[in-house]
Amino acid sequence: MAANLPSSGQPNWSSKPAFILAAVGSAVGLGNLWRFPAEAGANGGAAFVLVYILCVALIGAPLLLAETLIGRHGQRSTITSAALLARQSKASSGWASLAVIGMIANYLILTFYSVVAGWVLYFIWTSGGDVLRTIAAGQPFAGAYSNLTVEQVRQQMPDLFADPVKMSIAHFIFAAATTYVVARGVKGGIEVAAVWMMPAFFILLLGITVYAGVTGDFAAGAAFLFTPDFARAVQPEVLNSALGQAFFSLSLGGGAMVAYGAYASRETNLGQTSGIISAADTSVAIIAGLAIFPIVFSVGLAPDAGPTLMFQTLPAAFHSMPAGALVGLAFFVLALFAALTSSVSLLEISTAYLVERFKMARVMAAGLLGTSFFLIGMVSVLSFNIWADHRPLAMVPGFTNANWFDVFDGVTGRILLPLSGLITAIFIGWVADRKLVNEETGLQSGPLLPIWRFLVAWLCPIAVFLILLFGLFPQLIS
Ligand code: PFF
Repeated sequence: MAANLPSSGQPNWSSKPAFILAAVGSAVGLGNLWRFPAEAGANGGAAFVLVYILCVALIGAPLLLAETLIGRHGQRSTITSAALLARQSKASSGWASLAVIGMIANYLILTFYSVVAGWVLYFIWTSGGDVLRTIAAGQPFAGAYSNLTVEQVRQQMPDLFADPVKMSIAHFIFAAATTYVVARGVKGGIEVAAVWMMPAFFILLLGITVYAGVTGDFAAGAAFLFTPDFARAVQPEVLNSALGQAFFSLSLGGGAMVAYGAYASRETNLGQTSGIISAADTSVAIIAGLAIFPIVFSVGLAPDAGPTLMFQTLPAAFHSMPAGALVGLAFFVLALFAALTSSVSLLEISTAYLVERFKMARVMAAGLLGTSFFLIGMVSVLSFNIWADHRPLAMVPGFTNANWFDVFDGVTGRILLPLSGLITAIFIGWVADRKLVNEETGLQSGPLLPIWRFLVAWLCPIAVFLILLFGLFPQLIS
């Protein structure tokens, strides 16, 4: 498709489904499986879910369209694409600062994302050993870790946290895999990974959810997720967490969707694809919640356990599940794929920038960035053990009790991504040339274009600004 080749010589996805799958691959990841249940559990369950869905529909999806159109229009790295659109709109290229904040945010996310993906790797390792054990014992369809008690299964996570060496090795392997895929480039690496892994992941997740529904306490899980306490839903903390989660989960604010949009062909209807990507990502998060919370309640765990939730509940479910050893292994392998298709999008942005700006070889750029994010990620590894008592932002409201890991997670998700999204909304809603923008949306006919323009120009900036302000300074309204 020579006609699709942009003048900048950027590579293209080979087809529209490939673009959608790669973008869904970026969106669906540990944010859905691990972060969404943890955030929902810590913020009142259904109250959080309600606000989250509103944030996705009214803020996330419109911004997803705004981001992909900046990329597709510019066909270059995130910063250059934003600067180009600004220049064509006769505005200052200072607007590209949105992409600079985003690039930094995504790089910082990668540092701790890789640590969490390392936990997934660790569980692949232990479940792999467990499968071999069951096969050797002639019981390949046994539950997971059938030689352990449920308490011992749940204890695996705290034991891992106490062991910085194991965590670092797992973090290293994941960082190396991410770097390898990005070094191989868009078509050969990222696209191949997404096209195969995402469908398989979705099917297995559905299967596990059905199982959790049948064997766990489905009524309690569903009630926790779907009967909101409306008073809780308007608390600034909950609003801020839900907004941050919407950005994190849809890969917004950091420029990943700008970067992927740059590889989309002219024929792709970005309005439509933004809807599909948002819906797919949200469904996976809700399904993951429905897999996890029935088990949380049936085994008597606390729903607000935070980051350990997924890693303590699911192995406990696989423990009592027929063929749980095999299903558990398959689940963690697919979770790893989901994490990998997201982490490559996180690394792609800064890599594309170095390649474009400094004419660096792709392998070199990915290698440099890969090494450095691995090293910074070590701070998060140590925050679970040796530095467990460090509270780096103890004087900042909302972070008083946060360790280094929580600080990386909170500052990027709750502050930097929404901030960059806020600037994007103002830029696209008010500054960028209307005609250029409208043409890229694919929404020309029908009522969707004015609705989208209203959401981007008015609702997104105002809501994101207020949520950021009151989420960070709750004392302003109390
Ligand atoms: N959306 C990914 C997830 O839910 O796991 C995480 C992520 C990827 C965030 C890419 C930001 C990003 F740019």
